[in-house]
Amino acid sequence: MDRIRLRGGRPLEGSISIGGAKNAALPLMAASLLTGDTLTLSNVPHLADIATMAHLLQQHGVDVSMDGGNGTPEGRTIHLNAARIESTLAPYDIVRKMRASVLVLGPLLARFGEAEVSLPGGCAIGTRPVDLHIMGLKALGAEINVENGYIKAKAPKGLKGGVVRFPMVSVGATENLLMAATLAEGTTVLENAAREPEITDLAYCLVAMGAMIDGIGSEHLTIHGKKSLHGAQHRIVPDRIETGTFAAAVAICGGKVELLGTRLNLIESVVDKLREAGCDVEETARGISIGRNGSRLKGVDFLTQPYPGFPTDMQAQVMAAMSVAEGASMITESIFENRFMHVPEMARMGANIVVHGASALVRGVPKLTGAPVMATDLRASVSLVLAGLAAEGETVVNRVYHLDRGYERLEEKLAACGAQIERLKD
Ligand code: UD1
Repeated sequence: MDRIRLRGGRPLEGSISIGGAKNAALPLMAASLLTGDTLTLSNVPHLADIATMAHLLQQHGVDVSMDGGNGTPEGRTIHLNAARIESTLAPYDIVRKMRASVLVLGPLLARFGEAEVSLPGGCAIGTRPVDLHIMGLKALGAEINVENGYIKAKAPKGLKGGVVRFPMVSVGATENLLMAATLAEGTTVLENAAREPEITDLAYCLVAMGAMIDGIGSEHLTIHGKKSLHGAQHRIVPDRIETGTFAAAVAICGGKVELLGTRLNLIESVVDKLREAGCDVEETARGISIGRNGSRLKGVDFLTQPYPGFPTDMQAQVMAAMSVAEGASMITESIFENRFMHVPEMARMGANIVVHGASALVRGVPKLTGAPVMATDLRASVSLVLAGLAAEGETVVNRVYHLDRGYERLEEKLAACGAQIERLKD
């Protein structure tokens, strides 16, 4: 298994291009199941999770072709055609690799009146049930049983519009319901819907496919169902978590980097905290510039929340920055119950962090020291890379396959800005 070796202590200088958002690409790919015409997506990142979704769709019978390679500035373009679906079953072997596979449930059920999708099961950051997806689809008239580890859903006469009030904000459940409602008979109202930029991106693509959706970008979505949707072309929104991750890297290392092809308004909550901690962040004609010169970072407190709050997917990376800040930082995780697995690994590098329930108290130390580390999920893994950039001496991050699920050419992008980082191939 590949590893990443790095030595900390160098400022970052230069520019980094930001790819399309993985978490937008996955539901957008699933949306191709809603039509028999071709859906063309551009600015698709080259990542392991995208390959897993392509594989899942192919086994349903979707024709998937890709242009553009790894590292092209425009990302990849994917053409998806679901004219001939052979199976509405999403098997355990694929779903267990990636929870977002559950996003095929809504589109398959809406267009074909049936779907059988393996339960995704637990994952490193918590139990992560799918009860809200099931509750919502039942409100649109689906009959759903969970048997033998599978969600077995039927709507022989098609889905019917209904009102779904989510008791808690769920990105995936909002996406499944939004997609399903586009082909339901009548009007569907989603209340307390998630409004992450990836959901807005999905909604705009669905509109380009002929869907009628009001309230895009808000927590109250109204969908007027159509008999069928058609093909469309859509460019995927920039990845705000990749953007925030590199911004956190500059916060840690100092220097100045321009992040190309992204937008500040996608990560305002993170930018607010980085500014409070002493970084300069500006919008530029090509993206965002972030810098920190001279003075040490200052500890700041934050709480993870649904968008537009501080994203849980940035918690570990900003914690890495806070571990070397002056003063203390109180970090509270309100989305997932078990998302501090990076803490013991950071502690092995010399960080001073105490966890009490859903909060972590980080007392900044002047420096970390390099160590061999590993993590069990994507964002925790990248936070250890960032901690390594702040550490004296050598850090080796094991289990790099987690990084490859969500970061395209991470080590190349950082090395191009002066970081001492390389991938060790096995
Ligand atoms: C998505 C993102 C993930 C991000 C998360 C929160 C993708 C592919 N993944 O995950 O990177 O960390 O949003 O921003 O976009 N919940 C239930 N029942 C459900 C569904 C969710 O209790 O049926 C709970 C979850 O356990 C969690 C919370 O709701 O505690 C939020 O989860 P959700 O927003 O659904 O996350 P995902 O869509 O899985």
